[in-house]
Amino acid sequence: METKVFDLEKEYDEGLHAAANTIAHGGLVVFPTETVYGLGANAADEAAVKRIFEAKGRPQDNPLIVHICDISQAWLAAKDISPLARRLMERFWPGPFTAVLKKSNLIPYSVTAGLDSVGVRLPSSKFARDLIRISGCMIAAPSANLSGRPSPTRIEHVLEDMMGRVPVILNGGEADFGVESTVCDLTGDIPVILRPGGITAEMIEKEAGAVKVSGAVLEELKEGEKAASPGMKYKHYSPKANVTIISSADVHSLANELKLMYDKNVSEGRKTLILCTENTLGLIGNRHKRSLGSTPDEVAHNIFSELRKADTDGFEQVLFEATDTNGMGLAVMNRMIRAAAFEVIKV
Ligand code: TXA
Ligand code: MG
Repeated sequence: METKVFDLEKEYDEGLHAAANTIAHGGLVVFPTETVYGLGANAADEAAVKRIFEAKGRPQDNPLIVHICDISQAWLAAKDISPLARRLMERFWPGPFTAVLKKSNLIPYSVTAGLDSVGVRLPSSKFARDLIRISGCMIAAPSANLSGRPSPTRIEHVLEDMMGRVPVILNGGEADFGVESTVCDLTGDIPVILRPGGITAEMIEKEAGAVKVSGAVLEELKEGEKAASPGMKYKHYSPKANVTIISSADVHSLANELKLMYDKNVSEGRKTLILCTENTLGLIGNRHKRSLGSTPDEVAHNIFSELRKADTDGFEQVLFEATDTNGMGLAVMNRMIRAAAFEVIKV
């Protein structure tokens, strides 16, 4: 399939109209949002939704998020929205917050993978909202990566995964957050975070008075256990390289362990990369290493693109410095723990 790529800095209107037209006619479009790039289609068009699953190679049982451009559309996508849910939506929208609500009849089961709930998100990206508005429909969109690969935060990632698979790609530059939205179940009395993201647990707790974090966020599902959020059960966000997480409260013990493990891997012939914070970088000596930044927000912004770069550069082993799980740290560890297939070494 021929793919047209528009640069939104120079071709905003052309890109917008080509994309809206494609969506309105049942096609797929890769578009930028403030979190990661999305792969969108008309949420009410079952054939179009099916094409999303095909283009990504996504498992059929993993539901899609429905994107809207105005809060009032939440009442089109969902029903029985509680006063608490409404308050949180008003507080965190537009932004990286996905509200899991009871689905309305307008949303087909192919979008929700058979669930009676639907994830609804009002993005803050101006382009994303313009696209939804001009297309004239709600847009179902997962992240625009091939299933299992790190989410795309830059246009290079999108081209790598989606060129030739969709008719239209929109280049909106680098995503602001770099990790996906917070998926939060608002169907009960207390909000439950199913996937941590741009809106932190602390922010939700402050607004709602209480918040729960689903066990599946940092723990592997036990055999036979059902995932509250189906996306959590897959080994996700993985680069080709093997990833190991190293965690320590003391920066010197951490640096020592990173160096030991690095040298062992290299002596066994594996090309190895250390991904760590700015603080630790100076303690690693002359080894392949990259800084992810100083704060959890910076680390979140950089992880997906550094994991992809590790692949491009041919690294076989990545050693990753654990962050704590406060603020954006919870989203970072949720993604990394999956990339590492739950392998964490504590020193
Ligand atoms: O920031 C984002 O959320 C990006 C941009 C494009 O909006 N989208 C995104 O979509 O990350 P995706 O499909 O890659 O991840 C959606 C996650 C999955 O883990 C899925 O299982 C969960 O949200 N999810 C969607 N609908 C759900 C529902 N009704 N109940 C529970 N989990 C749901
Ligand atoms: Mg995804």
